[in-house]
Amino acid sequence: MTTLRRAASVPGTRILGLGSAQPEQVVTNDDLSKTMDTNDTWIRERVGIVERRFAGEKDTVVSMAVEAGAKAIADAGLSPSDLDTVIVANCTTKSPIPNAAAQVAELLGIKAAGGFDLNAACAGFCYGLGVASDLVLSGSSKRTLVIGSEKLTDIVDPTDRSTAIIFADAAGAAVVGPSDEPRIGPVAWGTAGDLVEMIGMTERQHIYQEGQSVFRWATTKIAPIALKALDLAGLTPADVDVLVPHQANLRIVEAIAKKLRKEGAREDMVVADDIVYSGNTSSASIPMAMDHLRAAGKIHSGDVALLVGFGAGLSYAGQVVVCP
Ligand code: UT7
Repeated sequence: MTTLRRAASVPGTRILGLGSAQPEQVVTNDDLSKTMDTNDTWIRERVGIVERRFAGEKDTVVSMAVEAGAKAIADAGLSPSDLDTVIVANCTTKSPIPNAAAQVAELLGIKAAGGFDLNAACAGFCYGLGVASDLVLSGSSKRTLVIGSEKLTDIVDPTDRSTAIIFADAAGAAVVGPSDEPRIGPVAWGTAGDLVEMIGMTERQHIYQEGQSVFRWATTKIAPIALKALDLAGLTPADVDVLVPHQANLRIVEAIAKKLRKEGAREDMVVADDIVYSGNTSSASIPMAMDHLRAAGKIHSGDVALLVGFGAGLSYAGQVVVCP
């Protein structure tokens, strides 16, 4: 039997840089209450959102991904030629071909990049980070840019108050590269395909969700996935400095944090609440929340962050990372 040479693997991987991008247009709850039957108090109390950003005509999944990706590469102190692979997690491009990743690579000047899109909806960034880490670990990629970028306003029915008040537009990015020690833990991922109908697209290509059912699922099933990710990394809840769940609803974020604290997470664990001023940006929410927390001085290099994403599929994924 012929044996083939395998790529030279590395001992570990880490996030080398982070970046994010948001459109300029700020939309408040009062703005939304002018076009649908909702109000500021309800949205703040039930979802936790104060304002969000909506894309303008010039903003696309690709343009926001390019802005976030360029910032992540600069943050890593690298240039585009230092990267060889681009993954764009998204579920909102207007057309499946050409994929966003090839366009993003070209616009960033990452020549002849391996590039592909990945759709695990709001869990997409954690799926992408898991794949990026494994690509670098195995030696298949030198350094990979993984981006979550979404223009949800393209698929939201602006008159549907169960989705239009939640979703928003943004991109978040991370550069993944080799490390002497593992600083990205193994991914804990999976799907609950029996619940596939809970989030989907209508015939008119608008997103719908069975809000209460998804809420119940997220508040009961996601903390155990986060605990599994910790276990896979050889850590316990007390080791977590910052919890960054997908920013779906502030009440879901708080429920996950409460469950982890019951399992030993510290009271002073920082909990991402980026949804308050960014809304639910699907696959962009986790890397953007990390980037914003760092800019606000709430997380620091070396902090242990626990990431967990969840959404349509229903899909979920989580892992531990050491902050860059
Ligand atoms: O990111 C992907 C994964 N998605 C999620 O994780 C979303 C999970 N679900 C949720 O976040 C919540 O279920 C929603 C935010 C979508 C809805 O919040 P809720 O607390 O579950 O509201 P509800 O649908 O149970 O409605 C409660 C009440 C109803 O009124 P009555 O029947 O009690 O009189 C609704 O008609 O609130 C009313 N309502 C609203 N009122 C003002 C529903 N939506 C609105 C609204 N503004 N936008």
